Amino acid sequence: MKTTLLILVGLLLCMGANATVSPKKDEQVERKIKELIAQMTLEEKLGQMSQFDPGQLGGAESAKQAIRDGKVGSILNLVGASRVNELQKVAVEESRLGIPLIIGRDVIHGYRTIMPIPLGMAASWNAELAEQAMGVAAAEAASEGIHWTFAPMIDVSRDPRWGRIAESCGEDTYLTSVMAKAMVKGFQGEDLTDSRTIAACAKHFVGYGAAEGGRDYNTTLIPEVQLRNDYLPPFKAAVDAGVATFMSAFNDLNGVPASGNEFTLKQILRQEWGYEGMVVSDWASIAEMIPHGYAANQKEAAEKALNAGVDMEMASNCYVENAQALLDEGKIEMATIDSYVANILRLKFSLGLFDQPYTDESLAAKTILSERHLEIAKEAASESFVLLQNKNELLPLSKSISSIAVIGPLADSPHDQMGTWVFDGNKENSVTPLTALKEKLGAAKINFAKGLEISRTKSTEGFAEAVEAAKKSDVVVLFLGEESILSGEAHSLANLNLQGSQTQLLEAVQATGKPVVMVVMAGRQLTIERELKLADAVLYAWHPGTMGGPALADMLFGEAVPSGKLPVTFPKTVGQIPIYYNHKNTGRPADYQQWTDINKIPAEATQHSLGNTSHYLDAGFEPLFPFGYGLSYSSFDYSNLELSSNTMGVDGAIDVSVTLKNTGKYEAAEVVQLYIRDRFGSVTRPVRQLKGYKKVTLKPGESQQVSINLKANELAFFNGKDYVIEAGDFDVWMGTNAQEGLHAEFSIDK
Ligand code: BGC
Repeated sequence: MKTTLLILVGLLLCMGANATVSPKKDEQVERKIKELIAQMTLEEKLGQMSQFDPGQLGGAESAKQAIRDGKVGSILNLVGASRVNELQKVAVEESRLGIPLIIGRDVIHGYRTIMPIPLGMAASWNAELAEQAMGVAAAEAASEGIHWTFAPMIDVSRDPRWGRIAESCGEDTYLTSVMAKAMVKGFQGEDLTDSRTIAACAKHFVGYGAAEGGRDYNTTLIPEVQLRNDYLPPFKAAVDAGVATFMSAFNDLNGVPASGNEFTLKQILRQEWGYEGMVVSDWASIAEMIPHGYAANQKEAAEKALNAGVDMEMASNCYVENAQALLDEGKIEMATIDSYVANILRLKFSLGLFDQPYTDESLAAKTILSERHLEIAKEAASESFVLLQNKNELLPLSKSISSIAVIGPLADSPHDQMGTWVFDGNKENSVTPLTALKEKLGAAKINFAKGLEISRTKSTEGFAEAVEAAKKSDVVVLFLGEESILSGEAHSLANLNLQGSQTQLLEAVQATGKPVVMVVMAGRQLTIERELKLADAVLYAWHPGTMGGPALADMLFGEAVPSGKLPVTFPKTVGQIPIYYNHKNTGRPADYQQWTDINKIPAEATQHSLGNTSHYLDAGFEPLFPFGYGLSYSSFDYSNLELSSNTMGVDGAIDVSVTLKNTGKYEAAEVVQLYIRDRFGSVTRPVRQLKGYKKVTLKPGESQQVSINLKANELAFFNGKDYVIEAGDFDVWMGTNAQEGLHAEFSIDK
């Protein structure tokens, strides 16, 4: 039984101490910042606090004049070392104070070498690889004059209708936090002055992923308990990893837009977390407080954002046009403006821009699409793939196969395989599955037919050719899914079935009797229950990036073995959304004894005859695939779950270990996942929570004891008043996904 004892824990203890906030304050730099600010006019200060797209600056000459006049401190979407250097020269040599520009860009999952979309990267559960991949993105972007990326996006995302789920690390707070740290480290490296690193930006602060109905920019209503327990920890993890900047979000959070939200920006970020980095708004998110109905005009919007703590305004003019009046009226203070300018200048100092404002123009040629970068992209793609089904061990295919039908709108779609948020990748650099398979097997063995022009094509004109290709071949590999443009910002969907006539194409091909491997490329989890029944094997490939083709070709033929695990729960149907593994239990949790399929309900059944539990009559209560799910070509056995102790104190820790054996035929990696449940709390607790994992590679027949250290402070939560670790009983599972695992119990003592 749970005791009623609540143990208060300091915020720093439970939210992660030892914050290494970057950029760090350095006395000499602080002095220089003060000196600069002392010389600046208000117009110059506001210039530093403004970021514009070149298009907004009205042509090259007027952009140069604005920079010369000190009216622009930052530009986004300017790329190319020589273009950047040209404008930088104006800032450094022709503006009164010579303050360098900082150039920002959305380098989300690669610059020219495109990595899998972040949701795919998260499916690798490989933080080191994510760090390396973002290191590649940083080096390439930096070589083209970019100093700052607007990534990682670490919004916990539980709604696949929301197009931006593609940019996220999925539904889980813990996994997103691990990835957040890795990606920040990847972009920023050890030293921001290094020519291969760029500043990262934790976005979108905060709650944007909870957009009502999955419709982008929509309202979010997140109680403080949930905000602190589910949505904030990845941002705190980014702070701990030293993230240089934050971005305030578009959404209305509990009635107060995130870009004017003093509670999140001032109280949590600055006061509780002690964050000393810089905060930029999202694109026009300050001005958008007017349509939100939170500010009557641009002046009020500026006042609210300035008083909430947004240092730099992206793409709108509220600050520039209204700060003077707000100062005159005493609605804002010059000290506030000065502290924001200081944050911006400190970032520029930490990037080394005052010492070396220019980008070496010979760097890009040596850096972009290098062999090493392409190798990392291939490895990242490979580890992101999740094997969902493999009937009769159809996969891997044998290389001695005599012919293979490669079918589908995504088999040879170099643009779409790059995924959403790709501004700088060129489709000419993508290697498609068709190209890679031809290379691996020889073109003569491949019978290719698109079947459908694009994923949304309704016409079945191409089916005959596809069926013909299937008939001629030993096996069909069918590339379905969604085009890249169907996910990403403002690309929400209400229907998550395969678009166009893709399911019918699968039916037509399956009717030939040939075994079918379905590879799904998509920016989100799609509702593919029907297709699972038709296909023999299903490999979920997300949008895998530049090297998606070779990574897939290797995996189809067993030269790589799937090891990805779902970072999101797969619903059977859209009506089950929101569906995520770490939900609360309800007073009447669903079970099979008390659930009657809608098709089996007798006529004139009475109200209570079917059992009153929390379920859908037509979709049950289970997902199509749980969080953490993913098969291998090999198989793994879990045994001997052991706890170093069945009790721990509030400042204690235990080791939870399991013996993992590779019982299959392939050397393969398994992600061993540790989940807990806090049985009773001063506020109700989720049915399971991921608290640790390890990705372990074993040879066939090999066993290993896999041990994860679980600290009591990782069990802390916010209960509405305080962060607490509560004494009482806990369940613990170690296993292969969020629905399985060996089980034990432990308790936290008073
Ligand atoms: C997005 C941000 C992005 C910004 C700059 C906005 O529309 O929400 O994530 O960084 O544009 O391109």
